[in-house]
Amino acid sequence: MSAANDLGPVAAAPRASGVFRPWPGAQALRQFRRLGDVPVDNLRRQLAAQPDLWDRHTRRKTAPGTPHARMSDIWVRYQDDRFFRAAGDWTGFNDRHVPVWYPAWHRLPALRPIIFSLMAAVEAEMLCGVLITRIPSGEGIERHADDSWHVQYTDKLYVSIESEPGAIFGAEDGLGIECLAPKPGEVWLFDNRLPHWVENKSQGDRITLIVCVRTEMFGRPREGASP
Ligand SMILES: [Fe+2]
Repeated sequence: MSAANDLGPVAAAPRASGVFRPWPGAQALRQFRRLGDVPVDNLRRQLAAQPDLWDRHTRRKTAPGTPHARMSDIWVRYQDDRFFRAAGDWTGFNDRHVPVWYPAWHRLPALRPIIFSLMAAVEAEMLCGVLITRIPSGEGIERHADDSWHVQYTDKLYVSIESEPGAIFGAEDGLGIECLAPKPGEVWLFDNRLPHWVENKSQGDRITLIVCVRTEMFGRPREGASP
């Protein structure tokens, strides 16, 4: 396969679909690829009206050595956690699985047009993890690189829901560091196998929707079947 920081040929451009509008500009960054825009006002309102949705599944926030201790999240879709929670053993939680909706999906109907528009735009053949993260002012996510079956199998689409100047998404490849400060509504592709971190030095929360999809569009290794 191609190098970890190769986000695929720019020629494979997402298409307009539903509420998604592709971004026609040139790609100026190596590690972040701007895909387009979606409206996020409805989702922002639904999140603000339901503060109890945050931190109901704290595995990511509390796992030993986690870089995510200083943020909150809402799990919308992933592997069914009930067996792991009951067993008190999370071994294999990020391994190959068929994902399920978590209850938050049914309380955030504004997600529906965003997610299904994104899937059509990038020709997604499978919807995997969906997560919403919130980093308060003054907090951040420590530098780390992700690796699991889910990380290797899916491409990560980052949709900025709420962000103010000073909230920085940083990433590093062999050529150096790049920083990104997406505006609300912007959709970006990022390969989280690269070292990355977030610092929120703005005055407000930084809220991001992460949609993980399986697609051939961005160069992930293909799986085979018998000819
Ligand atoms: Fe990460």
